[in-house]
Amino acid sequence: MGTLEAIRSRPLLLLVAGAKGAIGSTLALASCMMQRQPDLISPYLTTSDLWGDAADAQQVHMAGWDRNPMAMTEALALHGVVPETLWTGNREALNAIPVAAAPKNGLSVSAQIEQLIRDIDGFRQLFPEAQPVMVNLLPACVECSLAHGNNGDNMTGGRFPDLAYARAAIRAGIPVVNFTPNDLGDGDLLATAAEKGIPLVGRDGKTGQTYFKVVLASAFKARHLRVDGWYSLNILGNADGRNLMDPDCARGKLANKTNLLDEILGYPVGEAYGEGAHKVHIDYYPPRGDAKEAWDVIDIKGLFGLSMSIRVNLQGRDSILAAPMALDLARWVVLLQAAGRGGAIPELGFYFKKPEGEAPAATWEDQLRDLKGLVAYCRQQLAG
Ligand SMILES: NC(=O)c1ccc[n+]([C@@H]2O[C@H](COP(=O)([O-])OP(=O)(O)OC[C@H]3O[C@@H](n4cnc5c(N)ncnc54)[C@H](O)[C@@H]3O)[C@@H](O)[C@H]2O)c1
Repeated sequence: MGTLEAIRSRPLLLLVAGAKGAIGSTLALASCMMQRQPDLISPYLTTSDLWGDAADAQQVHMAGWDRNPMAMTEALALHGVVPETLWTGNREALNAIPVAAAPKNGLSVSAQIEQLIRDIDGFRQLFPEAQPVMVNLLPACVECSLAHGNNGDNMTGGRFPDLAYARAAIRAGIPVVNFTPNDLGDGDLLATAAEKGIPLVGRDGKTGQTYFKVVLASAFKARHLRVDGWYSLNILGNADGRNLMDPDCARGKLANKTNLLDEILGYPVGEAYGEGAHKVHIDYYPPRGDAKEAWDVIDIKGLFGLSMSIRVNLQGRDSILAAPMALDLARWVVLLQAAGRGGAIPELGFYFKKPEGEAPAATWEDQLRDLKGLVAYCRQQLAG
């Protein structure tokens, strides 16, 4: 176990599955900028606030995997998340980020793991001082229930690639951040991670509409305003949005976005009508690209059961909201691993729609309290 000082003096190495996606390429730019202009990135990180100067000095390197062979700058131009004027000065550094080819479709999970471990060894040799973290930014895919219980070995590549990345990381002693809605709910893997003291945290980053939903729902609960119904609509035009038009891929995401409201409030929204009145829709709308727009119509009841209504309109940028959270989570898992925590970390529920682990806090204030508790725990464990 190192001290806080020792940990922050070593750079982070983000090993990103899906490195050239919308979030991955945004994260690549943020990592490059952390090297030369940390003042442009650090103020947008929750860990900077929670940890104060303990986090800010830490350098960040990135490596990873993608199916897409294009240069990182081409990927940035393709996704259009960040205007070219903001990344062109980092062109060389961006294209120097080592991104390996993803394991080919058709390989068994064991063969994928072998390949990924070889890649990980190579990345470690490139950045021998750095502390690696696996960051899963693969596309949302069909639930992996098939992979559970059979060790996943008769699964082949393509269908559920996340499992191989997570297993390779845990085998290599590297903590995992699962930002996707994909269920890595492999009890054995979590148990191994816990045994080996390696954090495996997820899932489904709580970036935009759902984050504000948690904040508002927690506020209604605190004021004893009764939520009578909640209608949420999202439009987005990036690859994630297109992918989520497949009902099988969207199922997990929609469930994650829906279930948490009743959990926060402590009653089923819509019980007066004998059916659910919390509706969540995601629609792919190409003109928007990454600039997601979300609308919420919230019906609440106050004294005498009189009804009131609120409208929320978020005009967001999906990857701009997501990338700093992925970086925050990478900082967290390195500290937690050093502080002796492994397996699921339910106290990181602030960052996720579907936090893994036992009894994660549901309300916003409880999630913030948990984060502060984790800071205190790590500081105590890592006192030099
Ligand atoms: N943006 C948000 O606010 C948000 C919030 C919560 C969760 N997420 C999730 O984060 C994930 C990433 O989102 P995104 O917008 O960057 O998606 P994206 O589709 O833009 O990126 C995915 C990348 O993964 C690559 N890829 C596909 N299969 C691969 C494989 N087997 N190995 C390596 N790379 C592979 C693709 O080529 C692509 O570059 C998605 O699962 C999304 O649902 C996003």
